[in-house]
Amino acid sequence: MRKNYELPSLNEAKLRSKGSVNTEQFILDPQLVGIGLHKKYMLHTFGCQANVRDSEVMAGILESLGFTMANSDEDADLILLNTCAIRENAENKVFGQIGNLKHLKQKNPDLIIGIAGCMAQEEVVVNKILQSYHQVDLVFGTHNIHRLGDLVYKAMFSKEKTIEVYSKEGDIIENLPERRFGEHKAWVNIMYGCDKFCTYCIVPFTRGKERSRSVEDILDEVNDLKSRGFKEVTLLGQNVNSYGKDLQLEGGFAYLLKEVALTGIERIRFTTSHPWDFTQDMVNTIAAYPNIMPYIHLPVQSGNNDILKIMGRRYTVEEYKDTVRRLKEAIPHLTFSTDIIVGFPNESDEQFNDTLALYDEMKYDFAFTFIYSPRSGTPAAKFDDNVSLEVKKKRLAALNERVKKYALEHNQAMVNQIVEVLVDGPSKKDPSIVSGYTPHQKLVNFKAKDVKSGDIVHVKVTDAKTWFLLGEQI
Ligand code: 5AD
Ligand code: SF4
Repeated sequence: MRKNYELPSLNEAKLRSKGSVNTEQFILDPQLVGIGLHKKYMLHTFGCQANVRDSEVMAGILESLGFTMANSDEDADLILLNTCAIRENAENKVFGQIGNLKHLKQKNPDLIIGIAGCMAQEEVVVNKILQSYHQVDLVFGTHNIHRLGDLVYKAMFSKEKTIEVYSKEGDIIENLPERRFGEHKAWVNIMYGCDKFCTYCIVPFTRGKERSRSVEDILDEVNDLKSRGFKEVTLLGQNVNSYGKDLQLEGGFAYLLKEVALTGIERIRFTTSHPWDFTQDMVNTIAAYPNIMPYIHLPVQSGNNDILKIMGRRYTVEEYKDTVRRLKEAIPHLTFSTDIIVGFPNESDEQFNDTLALYDEMKYDFAFTFIYSPRSGTPAAKFDDNVSLEVKKKRLAALNERVKKYALEHNQAMVNQIVEVLVDGPSKKDPSIVSGYTPHQKLVNFKAKDVKSGDIVHVKVTDAKTWFLLGEQI
């Protein structure tokens, strides 16, 4: 039996059990239905798509308890922060926001403030909250989301803080309530957790071991989305290439991808692929099905083999380039983005220059770039580091110059082309302009004739900016 009050443990989070993972169906305790009637919730989501998807489930559970969504924090009876632990600045943002909520709690002592997501899985964070952030009433982790109903109930009726963070992942729970935030684009989890243990990364500790959902459950979800008019699904996993390994599924991710393609849903994307186990079967599948979009996010992290080795990335620059070559051979117009960390402990100027040289060779369409941030409990956090923050900032700026330069060049090459755009809706800045994405994941702002969100329309590109294209519907 699990205890009611459970703090995270880093030591337990590091463990990987051999046992298989079961799938269970979510059941809402009927006694909890109604506890949220006439109450409102506010949900703030930080970080990656996995968190966005988790927030959709949290919203779904809260709404099945009777809560409705609030328009602002001031208007809410329950405020949840679904947090990200990937870098220190992500955590600082959350602590800042918890600080900002203090005055609301003083005004309304019945307000419940809850912390969820990856930060809740961290021992150091929960200790800090217990010591210094008394306004927080509820803390629950990434493995406790299905328990949200019970936890909110406890938080509402108990005088003490409610903390429930399982450090070891549990079963896969299907049939969870959800409130989809998108109307034509949906996130679909295909697996949870990560077993790669890159030396800088906190994710294997906050999200547990790799567990795949069954092919049937995933296809049911995609087919349901399709029948409800969704046009695009993004298959989510920390490393989707590992999909099915725990199920001993023949064909693994390539098989799943093919099955999802055969549902006939208009657009399929996936994220994130690790360069280490990108099989030829996957390459061939992406090439074979036109509804698998010709855009791949393939995080390289560094252009230097010694750095890659101490990052624990399991590939060399040469092997990475070979994967890109195989992909481009099969899918000539494929676009690429990547993730890069600069200023890894003891990274020399020469090693950083290798990253710049690789960037010049790959000419990525886009990159997410980061200064290395030590995460407590990860192996790299114990490494000595002789690189100053000033140098790291300069490296980031130099890299970002490259990112901008190639993003603009790629966009300029698209001027006068006709592209298919899945319409998201009116642009935020100018409502007479509509925005959406091409199959290659290029953002286009264009003058529309008569379109609504979810339409797929043809647009002529008339101009290129660094981060988006301009166009006219034809
Ligand atoms: N410091 C900086 N960047 C990190 N990432 C992961 N962990 C860290 C860290 N400790 C980056 C990697 C990863 C992306 C999601 O975040 O580039 O691909
Ligand atoms: Fe982190 Fe590496 Fe897993 Fe990605 S593959 S989540 S970088 S440990």
